[in-house]
Amino acid sequence: MNRVFSGIQPTGNIHLGNYLGALRQFVELQETEECVYCIVDMHAITVPKPAEQLRESILDVAALYLAVGIDPEKSIVFVQSDVGSHAELSWILTCSSYTGELSRMTQYKQKSKNQESAPTGLFMYPVLMAADILLYDTNVVPVGDDQKQHIELTRDLAIRVNGKYGEDTFVVPEGRFMKSGARIMGLDDPTSKMSKSAENEYSRIQLLDAPSKIKKSVMRATTDNVGAINYDPENQPGITNLINIYSAFTDHDPQEIVAKYQGEGYGTFKKDLVEILTDNLAPIREKYEKIRHSDELTSILKDGAQRADAIAQKTMERVKKNFGLGIR
Ligand code: TYM
Repeated sequence: MNRVFSGIQPTGNIHLGNYLGALRQFVELQETEECVYCIVDMHAITVPKPAEQLRESILDVAALYLAVGIDPEKSIVFVQSDVGSHAELSWILTCSSYTGELSRMTQYKQKSKNQESAPTGLFMYPVLMAADILLYDTNVVPVGDDQKQHIELTRDLAIRVNGKYGEDTFVVPEGRFMKSGARIMGLDDPTSKMSKSAENEYSRIQLLDAPSKIKKSVMRATTDNVGAINYDPENQPGITNLINIYSAFTDHDPQEIVAKYQGEGYGTFKKDLVEILTDNLAPIREKYEKIRHSDELTSILKDGAQRADAIAQKTMERVKKNFGLGIR
Protein backbone atom coordinates (compact mmCIF):
# COMPACT_ATOMS: atom_id res chain seq x y z
CA MET A 1 0.00 0.00 0.00
CA ASN A 2 1.28 3.45 -0.91
CA ARG A 3 1.27 6.43 1.43
CA VAL A 4 -0.54 9.37 -0.16
CA PHE A 5 -0.24 12.96 1.07
CA SER A 6 -1.76 16.18 -0.19
CA GLY A 7 -3.04 19.51 1.05
CA ILE A 8 -5.17 22.50 0.17
CA GLN A 9 -4.89 26.06 1.44
CA PRO A 10 -7.75 27.19 3.63
CA THR A 11 -9.86 29.69 1.73
CA GLY A 12 -13.63 29.71 1.47
CA ASN A 13 -13.81 29.60 -2.29
CA ILE A 14 -12.62 26.14 -3.29
CA HIS A 15 -13.43 25.81 -6.98
CA LEU A 16 -13.78 23.31 -9.81
CA GLY A 17 -10.01 23.39 -10.47
CA ASN A 18 -9.25 22.34 -6.91
CA TYR A 19 -11.93 19.69 -7.12
CA LEU A 20 -11.11 18.20 -10.52
CA GLY A 21 -7.33 18.57 -10.18
CA ALA A 22 -6.93 17.44 -6.59
CA LEU A 23 -9.94 16.60 -4.38
CA ARG A 24 -11.40 14.00 -6.71
CA GLN A 25 -8.11 12.14 -6.63
CA PHE A 26 -8.11 12.30 -2.81
CA VAL A 27 -11.46 10.49 -2.71
CA GLU A 28 -10.45 7.90 -5.30
CA LEU A 29 -7.12 7.06 -3.67
CA GLN A 30 -8.50 6.46 -0.18
CA GLU A 31 -10.09 3.22 -1.44
CA THR A 32 -6.74 1.57 -2.08
CA GLU A 33 -4.00 3.61 -0.36
CA GLU A 34 -3.10 4.98 3.04
CA CYS A 35 -4.06 8.65 2.74
CA VAL A 36 -3.14 11.72 4.75
CA TYR A 37 -4.94 14.96 3.83
CA CYS A 38 -3.99 18.27 5.30
CA ILE A 39 -5.42 21.78 5.50
CA VAL A 40 -2.27 23.81 5.06
CA ASP A 41 -2.93 26.82 7.28
CA MET A 42 0.75 27.70 7.65
CA HIS A 43 0.98 28.11 3.89
CA ALA A 44 -2.02 30.42 4.05
CA ILE A 45 -0.26 32.96 6.29
CA THR A 46 2.28 33.72 3.56
CA VAL A 47 -0.44 36.22 2.67
CA PRO A 48 -1.56 37.59 6.07
CA LYS A 49 -5.24 37.28 7.00
CA PRO A 50 -7.34 38.24 10.02
CA ALA A 51 -7.19 35.42 12.62
CA GLU A 52 -10.94 34.92 12.77
CA GLN A 53 -11.17 34.62 8.99
CA LEU A 54 -8.40 32.02 8.87
CA ARG A 55 -10.03 29.97 11.63
CA GLU A 56 -13.33 29.92 9.73
CA SER A 57 -11.63 29.06 6.44
CA ILE A 58 -9.87 26.08 8.03
CA LEU A 59 -13.26 24.68 9.08
CA ASP A 60 -14.77 25.52 5.68
CA VAL A 61 -12.15 23.43 3.88
CA ALA A 62 -12.33 20.62 6.45
CA ALA A 63 -16.09 20.43 5.91
CA LEU A 64 -15.59 20.45 2.13
CA TYR A 65 -13.10 17.57 2.39
CA LEU A 66 -15.80 15.51 4.07
CA ALA A 67 -18.56 16.80 1.79
CA VAL A 68 -16.79 15.65 -1.38
CA GLY A 69 -16.42 12.18 0.10
CA ILE A 70 -13.21 11.98 2.11
CA ASP A 71 -13.96 9.45 4.81
CA PRO A 72 -12.15 10.04 8.13
CA GLU A 73 -12.36 6.31 8.83
CA LYS A 74 -10.23 5.69 5.76
CA SER A 75 -8.09 8.84 5.57
CA ILE A 76 -6.32 11.03 8.10
CA VAL A 77 -7.66 14.60 7.91
CA PHE A 78 -5.91 17.29 9.94
CA VAL A 79 -4.71 20.88 10.16
CA GLN A 80 -1.04 21.50 9.38
CA SER A 81 -0.22 23.75 12.35
CA ASP A 82 -1.60 21.12 14.77
CA VAL A 83 1.46 18.99 13.97
CA GLY A 84 4.57 20.95 14.98
CA SER A 85 7.01 18.82 12.97
CA HIS A 86 6.03 20.52 9.68
CA ALA A 87 7.82 23.70 10.75
CA GLU A 88 10.71 21.76 12.30
CA LEU A 89 11.38 19.71 9.18
CA SER A 90 10.94 22.79 7.02
CA TRP A 91 13.97 24.41 8.74
CA ILE A 92 16.06 21.27 8.35
CA LEU A 93 15.23 21.19 4.63
CA THR A 94 15.86 24.92 4.30
CA CYS A 95 19.47 24.20 5.19
CA SER A 96 19.74 21.84 2.21
CA SER A 97 18.00 24.13 -0.29
CA TYR A 98 19.60 26.69 -2.60
CA THR A 99 18.42 30.29 -3.00
CA GLY A 100 18.87 29.87 -6.77
CA GLU A 101 16.40 27.01 -7.10
CA LEU A 102 13.84 28.77 -4.87
CA SER A 103 14.06 31.99 -6.84
CA ARG A 104 13.33 30.04 -10.04
CA MET A 105 9.92 28.84 -8.78
CA THR A 106 7.24 30.18 -11.14
CA GLN A 107 4.70 30.86 -8.39
CA TYR A 108 7.26 32.83 -6.40
CA LYS A 109 8.25 34.85 -9.45
CA GLN A 110 4.61 35.63 -10.25
CA LYS A 111 3.62 36.57 -6.73
CA SER A 112 6.75 38.46 -5.64
CA LYS A 113 6.95 40.53 -8.85
CA ASN A 114 10.66 41.00 -8.17
CA GLN A 115 9.96 43.42 -5.32
CA GLU A 116 12.31 43.79 -2.36
CA SER A 117 9.27 43.83 -0.09
CA ALA A 118 8.15 40.37 -1.29
CA PRO A 119 7.46 38.33 1.88
CA THR A 120 10.18 35.81 2.77
CA GLY A 121 7.38 33.33 3.48
CA LEU A 122 6.51 33.31 -0.23
CA PHE A 123 10.12 32.47 -1.02
CA MET A 124 10.27 29.61 1.51
CA TYR A 125 6.80 28.28 0.68
CA PRO A 126 8.00 25.35 -1.50
CA VAL A 127 10.36 24.15 1.25
CA LEU A 128 7.47 23.99 3.73
CA MET A 129 5.53 22.07 1.09
CA ALA A 130 8.44 19.64 0.69
CA ALA A 131 8.47 19.19 4.48
CA ASP A 132 4.72 18.40 4.45
CA ILE A 133 5.27 15.66 1.92
CA LEU A 134 8.53 14.15 3.21
CA LEU A 135 7.31 14.08 6.83
CA TYR A 136 4.89 11.28 6.01
CA ASP A 137 7.21 9.06 3.94
CA THR A 138 4.89 9.85 1.06
CA ASN A 139 4.98 7.83 -2.16
CA VAL A 140 2.27 9.65 -4.10
CA VAL A 141 1.16 13.31 -4.13
CA PRO A 142 -2.16 13.96 -5.95
CA VAL A 143 -2.17 17.58 -7.18
CA GLY A 144 -3.01 19.80 -10.13
CA ASP A 145 -0.52 20.71 -12.85
CA ASP A 146 0.42 24.02 -11.22
CA GLN A 147 2.20 22.15 -8.40
CA LYS A 148 4.50 20.15 -10.73
CA GLN A 149 7.50 22.39 -10.12
CA HIS A 150 7.05 22.18 -6.34
CA ILE A 151 6.92 18.37 -6.51
CA GLU A 152 10.12 18.36 -8.57
CA LEU A 153 11.82 20.52 -5.94
CA THR A 154 10.61 18.13 -3.21
CA ARG A 155 12.16 15.21 -5.11
CA ASP A 156 15.42 17.12 -5.64
CA LEU A 157 15.65 17.96 -1.93
CA ALA A 158 14.92 14.37 -0.88
CA ILE A 159 17.53 12.96 -3.26
CA ARG A 160 20.09 15.60 -2.20
CA VAL A 161 19.58 14.96 1.53
CA ASN A 162 19.63 11.17 1.05
CA GLY A 163 22.96 11.51 -0.76
CA LYS A 164 24.46 13.48 2.12
CA TYR A 165 22.81 11.99 5.21
CA GLY A 166 21.83 8.44 4.28
CA GLU A 167 19.56 6.85 1.69
CA ASP A 168 17.00 5.91 4.36
CA THR A 169 16.38 9.57 5.34
CA PHE A 170 13.51 10.32 2.96
CA VAL A 171 11.18 8.44 0.65
CA VAL A 172 11.31 10.12 -2.79
CA PRO A 173 7.69 10.93 -3.80
CA GLU A 174 5.96 11.12 -7.19
CA GLY A 175 3.27 13.57 -8.28
CA ARG A 176 -0.06 12.25 -9.57
CA PHE A 177 -2.05 14.29 -12.09
CA MET A 178 -5.53 13.82 -13.59
CA LYS A 179 -6.04 13.42 -17.33
CA SER A 180 -8.85 15.91 -17.82
CA GLY A 181 -8.77 17.95 -14.61
CA ALA A 182 -5.11 18.74 -14.03
CA ARG A 183 -5.42 22.29 -15.33
CA ILE A 184 -8.85 23.89 -15.37
CA MET A 185 -8.74 27.35 -16.89
CA GLY A 186 -10.60 30.54 -15.99
CA LEU A 187 -14.07 30.72 -17.55
CA ASP A 188 -13.60 34.36 -18.55
CA ASP A 189 -10.04 33.89 -19.78
CA PRO A 190 -9.11 30.37 -20.88
CA THR A 191 -5.43 31.32 -21.10
CA SER A 192 -4.99 31.62 -17.33
CA LYS A 193 -5.82 28.95 -14.76
CA MET A 194 -8.99 29.04 -12.68
CA SER A 195 -7.92 30.66 -9.44
CA LYS A 196 -9.28 31.42 -5.98
CA SER A 197 -8.02 34.98 -6.10
CA ALA A 198 -9.17 36.18 -9.55
CA GLU A 199 -11.27 39.30 -9.17
CA ASN A 200 -14.08 38.23 -11.51
CA GLU A 201 -16.22 35.77 -9.53
CA TYR A 202 -17.65 34.41 -12.79
CA SER A 203 -14.17 33.24 -13.78
CA ARG A 204 -14.59 30.26 -11.46
CA ILE A 205 -17.31 27.94 -10.23
CA GLN A 206 -17.02 27.32 -6.52
CA LEU A 207 -18.17 24.02 -5.07
CA LEU A 208 -20.71 25.81 -2.89
CA ASP A 209 -22.10 28.08 -5.61
CA ALA A 210 -25.89 28.32 -5.96
CA PRO A 211 -27.38 26.93 -9.20
CA SER A 212 -28.05 30.47 -10.45
CA LYS A 213 -24.34 31.38 -10.11
CA ILE A 214 -23.30 28.13 -11.83
CA LYS A 215 -25.65 28.89 -14.70
CA LYS A 216 -24.49 32.48 -15.11
CA SER A 217 -20.81 31.49 -15.02
CA VAL A 218 -21.16 28.77 -17.68
CA MET A 219 -23.47 30.74 -19.98
CA ARG A 220 -21.07 33.72 -19.84
CA ALA A 221 -17.95 31.60 -20.32
CA THR A 222 -15.69 32.86 -23.07
CA THR A 223 -15.79 30.79 -26.28
CA ASP A 224 -14.88 31.88 -29.83
CA ASN A 225 -16.28 32.70 -33.26
CA VAL A 226 -15.76 29.25 -34.78
CA GLY A 227 -19.24 28.17 -33.73
CA ALA A 228 -18.48 24.43 -33.65
CA ILE A 229 -17.58 22.21 -30.73
CA ASN A 230 -14.03 20.99 -31.22
CA TYR A 231 -11.36 19.82 -28.79
CA ASP A 232 -8.64 22.21 -29.85
CA PRO A 233 -6.62 23.68 -26.96
CA GLU A 234 -4.71 26.03 -29.24
CA ASN A 235 -7.43 27.57 -31.39
CA GLN A 236 -10.53 27.02 -29.23
CA PRO A 237 -9.21 27.11 -25.64
CA GLY A 238 -12.53 28.26 -24.12
CA ILE A 239 -14.69 25.45 -25.46
CA THR A 240 -11.85 22.97 -24.87
CA ASN A 241 -11.76 23.96 -21.20
CA LEU A 242 -15.51 23.41 -20.94
CA ILE A 243 -15.14 20.02 -22.63
CA ASN A 244 -12.49 19.11 -20.04
CA ILE A 245 -14.88 20.00 -17.22
CA TYR A 246 -17.70 18.06 -18.91
CA SER A 247 -15.38 15.09 -19.42
CA ALA A 248 -14.15 15.10 -15.83
CA PHE A 249 -17.69 14.94 -14.45
CA THR A 250 -19.13 12.42 -16.89
CA ASP A 251 -16.08 10.22 -17.52
CA HIS A 252 -16.75 10.62 -21.25
CA ASP A 253 -13.70 10.99 -23.42
CA PRO A 254 -13.34 14.53 -24.94
CA GLN A 255 -13.67 13.06 -28.47
CA GLU A 256 -16.94 11.32 -27.51
CA ILE A 257 -18.26 14.66 -26.30
CA VAL A 258 -17.22 16.38 -29.53
CA ALA A 259 -19.01 13.67 -31.53
CA LYS A 260 -22.15 13.99 -29.41
CA TYR A 261 -22.41 17.73 -30.09
CA GLN A 262 -21.62 17.70 -33.83
CA GLY A 263 -23.85 20.23 -35.53
CA GLU A 264 -24.96 21.79 -32.23
CA GLY A 265 -24.23 25.35 -31.14
CA TYR A 266 -22.48 26.40 -27.94
CA GLY A 267 -25.83 27.16 -26.26
CA THR A 268 -27.03 23.53 -26.20
CA PHE A 269 -23.67 22.28 -24.98
CA LYS A 270 -23.49 24.91 -22.26
CA LYS A 271 -27.04 24.19 -21.08
CA ASP A 272 -26.19 20.50 -20.69
CA LEU A 273 -23.01 21.38 -18.83
CA VAL A 274 -24.99 23.57 -16.41
CA GLU A 275 -27.24 20.59 -15.67
CA ILE A 276 -24.29 18.25 -15.13
CA LEU A 277 -22.62 20.70 -12.76
CA THR A 278 -25.79 21.50 -10.83
CA ASP A 279 -26.58 17.80 -10.38
CA ASN A 280 -23.05 16.95 -9.25
CA LEU A 281 -22.51 19.90 -6.91
CA ALA A 282 -25.91 19.82 -5.13
CA PRO A 283 -25.10 16.78 -2.92
CA ILE A 284 -21.74 18.31 -1.98
CA ARG A 285 -23.46 21.51 -0.86
CA GLU A 286 -26.04 19.58 1.14
CA LYS A 287 -23.47 17.48 2.96
CA TYR A 288 -21.37 20.56 3.64
CA GLU A 289 -24.30 22.36 5.27
CA LYS A 290 -24.90 19.37 7.56
CA ILE A 291 -21.33 19.02 8.76
CA ARG A 292 -19.88 22.55 8.76
CA HIS A 293 -21.12 23.57 12.22
CA SER A 294 -21.13 20.13 13.81
CA ASP A 295 -19.00 19.10 16.80
CA GLU A 296 -18.05 16.04 14.81
CA LEU A 297 -15.96 18.21 12.49
CA THR A 298 -13.60 19.45 15.20
CA SER A 299 -13.29 16.01 16.77
CA ILE A 300 -12.35 14.52 13.37
CA LEU A 301 -9.60 17.15 13.02
CA LYS A 302 -8.28 16.55 16.55
CA ASP A 303 -8.20 12.80 16.03
CA GLY A 304 -6.56 13.33 12.62
CA ALA A 305 -3.85 15.52 14.16
CA GLN A 306 -2.99 12.82 16.70
CA ARG A 307 -2.74 10.14 14.03
CA ALA A 308 -0.67 12.39 11.76
CA ASP A 309 1.59 13.38 14.65
CA ALA A 310 2.36 9.73 15.43
CA ILE A 311 3.67 9.21 11.86
CA ALA A 312 5.52 12.54 11.87
CA GLN A 313 7.29 11.85 15.18
CA LYS A 314 8.76 8.64 13.80
CA THR A 315 10.08 10.37 10.70
CA MET A 316 11.56 13.19 12.79
CA GLU A 317 13.40 10.72 15.05
CA ARG A 318 15.01 9.13 12.00
CA VAL A 319 15.80 12.46 10.32
CA LYS A 320 17.34 13.98 13.46
CA LYS A 321 19.42 10.85 14.05
CA ASN A 322 20.75 10.94 10.48
CA PHE A 323 21.58 14.65 10.77
CA GLY A 324 23.14 14.26 14.25
CA LEU A 325 20.63 16.68 15.75
CA GLY A 326 19.65 16.68 19.47
CA ILE A 327 20.74 14.39 22.30
CA ARG A 328 17.50 12.75 23.40
P1 TYM B 1 -3.88 25.21 -3.59
O1 TYM B 1 -4.57 25.37 -2.28
O2 TYM B 1 -3.59 26.42 -4.40
O3 TYM B 1 -4.69 24.24 -4.52
C1 TYM B 1 -5.15 23.00 -4.06
C2 TYM B 1 -5.05 21.95 -5.15
O4 TYM B 1 -5.84 22.35 -6.28
C3 TYM B 1 -5.04 22.27 -7.47
N1 TYM B 1 -5.48 23.34 -8.38
C4 TYM B 1 -5.90 23.12 -9.65
N2 TYM B 1 -6.03 21.99 -10.37
C5 TYM B 1 -6.50 22.11 -11.63
N3 TYM B 1 -6.84 23.30 -12.19
C6 TYM B 1 -6.74 24.47 -11.50
N4 TYM B 1 -7.10 25.62 -12.04
C7 TYM B 1 -6.24 24.40 -10.16
N5 TYM B 1 -6.01 25.34 -9.20
C8 TYM B 1 -5.54 24.66 -8.13
C9 TYM B 1 -3.62 22.50 -6.98
O5 TYM B 1 -2.69 21.97 -7.91
C10 TYM B 1 -3.63 21.75 -5.66
O6 TYM B 1 -3.41 20.37 -5.88
N6 TYM B 1 0.93 24.46 -2.49
C11 TYM B 1 -0.36 23.83 -2.52
C12 TYM B 1 -0.81 23.30 -1.18
C13 TYM B 1 0.16 22.38 -0.50
C14 TYM B 1 0.39 21.02 -0.84
C15 TYM B 1 1.36 20.55 0.12
C16 TYM B 1 -0.08 20.17 -1.85
C17 TYM B 1 0.93 22.69 0.58
N7 TYM B 1 1.64 21.57 0.95
C18 TYM B 1 1.82 19.26 0.07
C19 TYM B 1 0.40 18.87 -1.88
C20 TYM B 1 1.34 18.42 -0.93
C21 TYM B 1 -1.39 24.87 -2.95
O7 TYM B 1 -1.21 26.05 -2.76
O8 TYM B 1 -2.54 24.35 -3.39
